[in-house]
Parts: sequence; structure tokens; C-alpha cells
Amino acid sequence: MVNKFNLSEFGVLLKSKTIGHSPANELHDVIDSTNTRCAELAREGAPEGTIVFGRQQTAGRGRLGRQWLSPADSGLYMSILLRPTAAIGELPAITLGIGVAVAKAIFATSGLRIGLKWVNDIICDDRKVGGILAEMPSGDRSKPALVIGIGINTRFDANDIPDELKDKVYWLEAALGTEYDTNVLAAEICQQVEDVYTSMQHGGTRKVLDEWRAFSVTLGQEVICTTPSREVRGTAIDISDNGALIVETHNGREELLGGEISVRTATGNYL
Ligand code: BTN
Repeated sequence: MVNKFNLSEFGVLLKSKTIGHSPANELHDVIDSTNTRCAELAREGAPEGTIVFGRQQTAGRGRLGRQWLSPADSGLYMSILLRPTAAIGELPAITLGIGVAVAKAIFATSGLRIGLKWVNDIICDDRKVGGILAEMPSGDRSKPALVIGIGINTRFDANDIPDELKDKVYWLEAALGTEYDTNVLAAEICQQVEDVYTSMQHGGTRKVLDEWRAFSVTLGQEVICTTPSREVRGTAIDISDNGALIVETHNGREELLGGEISVRTATGNYL
């Protein structure tokens, strides 16, 4: 039986220089949302690299106001505080960059091939195993903060998944067929996020977005994009430098910065 997530095991495995080393790191057995707590720490002046972990979230949230299923010890629920000193792009571009880091970390620690679905979905075997929620907490403008929330499903009990999500939600131990150590994953994510973030802070955003293209399960596919005001159908052809999805439609090209997309897979189903 592998260890449950714990800070001392995680600390031993950590190879990053800054991310994950803060004395302000927190691990909660139960918390509403690690993003909410991390934003509070940001407002209190916590240093870059501070991480809030939860073993269980009672109000875990995803994009577009959705709930993020966070049963106890079933996933990695972590929020990393960054304090960018350079313009590293808009939230969609940062979300894509963190997606690259997470995909690399899962591959490095499990060998599983991960796909990235615009804008924040971590995909394995055509199902969602994780997501990213980047938020900018309000507060002192002289000390900008970025909260990067990462949720990865590792060992779900199928009974915890509502019926309407059963064919969409997946977890790493199911894909692997073996146990998988969340401490190892968390430490590797810190290293990979640090690499991507450092690159983006030093003008490397285009290179990071090229890596996203290589992991993409969106580009070249038929997509349906739903925003609060309309639906756009077409073929996803690229992403822009600020992370927008470029879709070729019957009426020309559209750049989408928000909303939700469904991607048509090889089997004809929508992901
Ligand atoms: C999404 O796919 O819509 C994003 C999901 C992000 C979930 C993570 S879990 C840790 C952090 N805390 C939250 O409340 N949300 C993020």
C-alpha cells in the first residue's frame, strides 16, 4: 500500500528550487478549496512557491463555476502561489503552460501518455483525469499573485462519481492498473511547473505553447465551443500567443478566450 499524501514524504522527494519549499505550506485533512486558502495566504503576503494541499475538499471548484469532485485521498488537490515579475501572458496561456507541466509530470512518474484539451483538461484514454484553475486573487497590486489550482484524480471509488459523469471521469490508478504514489506526483509537478514558469518568465512562452500543441487532443479536431452567449462549431486549428483557441468556422476564423469546448474523437464521440 503506497503512502497517502503527506508533507514529510513530499519534502524528501522535492527537487525544485523554490516551488514547494515555503515555510507557509499547508496540508489540510479537510478544506473547502485549496485555491480559496491559497488566495488568503497570497493576501497575507506568503512567498512565491507556497502550496496549499488538501486531502479532501468540500467546495473544490473548477472552471465556469463548476464543482470539482474531491473525495478524501482520491486525488491530488493542490494550489501553488506564484508571484510573476514579468508579463507571462494572460490566464489562458498560463493555464496551457501549467497543463504542459502536469502532462510531463504524469508521464515522468507513471509512463502514461496524457493529452491536453483546451483550455485546462488533463486527458487520459479519452477521459478527464485532471484540471487546472488559474486565478488572480485581488489584493495588493504591488505584489501580484497568481494561484494555480491543480486537481488530479488518482484513486477514485466509482461510487463517488455521479451517474452523469461516469463515462467522463477517470483516474490514474485505473489507467495504470497499479497503485500510484501521490507524493511522487506532487514533487514532480513542482519541478515541472518551476521549469515552465521560469521559461515563461524569461520570454519562453512561445516554446511552451509549442509543447502544448504537441500534447493537444484538440487541434485538428471538430469542436463545439459553448460560451454563455453563443455556440461556435468548426475545426480547432491553432492557439494564439495569448492562449486563445483559433477555430475555423463556416463564417471565418474565431478566437476563443473563454467558454467550454467539446472535441470530436476518432470514435465519433465528443470528449
Ligand atoms: C477544471 O477542470 O475546471 C479545473 C479543476 C481544478 C481543481 C483544483 S483541485 C485544487 C484546486 N482547488 C480548487 O478548488 N480547485 C483546484
